[in-house]
Amino acid sequence: MTGLDPAKLPRHLAIIMDGNGRWASGQGFARTKGHEKGADTIRTATTECARLGLEQLTLYAFSHENWKRPRAEIAFLMRLLSKFLVRERPTMMDNNVRLTAIGRLDDLPASARKDLDESIAQTAGNNGLNLCLALSYGGRAEIVDAVRSMFEEVAAGTLDPKSIDESSVSARLYQPGRDPDLLIRTAGERRISNFLLWQISYAEIFVTNACWPEFSVDELHAALRDYAGRTRKFGGLVDPRPEAVQR
Ligand code: FPP
Repeated sequence: MTGLDPAKLPRHLAIIMDGNGRWASGQGFARTKGHEKGADTIRTATTECARLGLEQLTLYAFSHENWKRPRAEIAFLMRLLSKFLVRERPTMMDNNVRLTAIGRLDDLPASARKDLDESIAQTAGNNGLNLCLALSYGGRAEIVDAVRSMFEEVAAGTLDPKSIDESSVSARLYQPGRDPDLLIRTAGERRISNFLLWQISYAEIFVTNACWPEFSVDELHAALRDYAGRTRKFGGLVDPRPEAVQR
């Protein structure tokens, strides 16, 4: 019994996974142990979101700014990413999960990029949860890339500047689609950290003190229950979405 009303679940959940290092230090481990445990938490959270019938789970796995970390930590994270991508293929297939990715993916080392492309291809036919990994991702960079592509289209004569509106920008993001309904951040910080800047305009935000490696199914349910109790008004007086009445 989860006490969760399926009609009140977010359709798109985004998570800023933070606190791997803090969790590891607190346990007397090296930071790398926190990242390894964090990869296990991704599996747990993904499987539960798929079971609950969410449409999309977007995870901030490696930010544009994370390239500033020590080389050894970056190398460890990239190897862990590859290992995760290969190891989790059977679980993704068993759970009907489709893997996708957003970010400047060309920045990734060739081996990680290859493993990513293979997992994306292998799971492309699945029609359950879309697990979207944000890799070498920055929200401002994403908006810059969208603006640049609009300028190129204007220069080519295929886009009329007068026709540009919010939907024109949304359509040119890395993965156009439904904006997140709920954004969870672990490890207590109250920051957005350049994540999905355009898309989270009206997302509900939930911050938990739990570090990502200890973010359990119970913690996830607590966030989902909290979300179920919110009234979304999108700047108006009542929730205007048809799915607010019928999901
Ligand atoms: C923040 O912890 C976490 C990240 C760098 C992103 C998430 C990374 C993982 C969950 C590792 C596995 C990822 C994949 C895709 C296999 P932090 O190091 O910033 O923690 P701290 O703020 O406590 O130092």
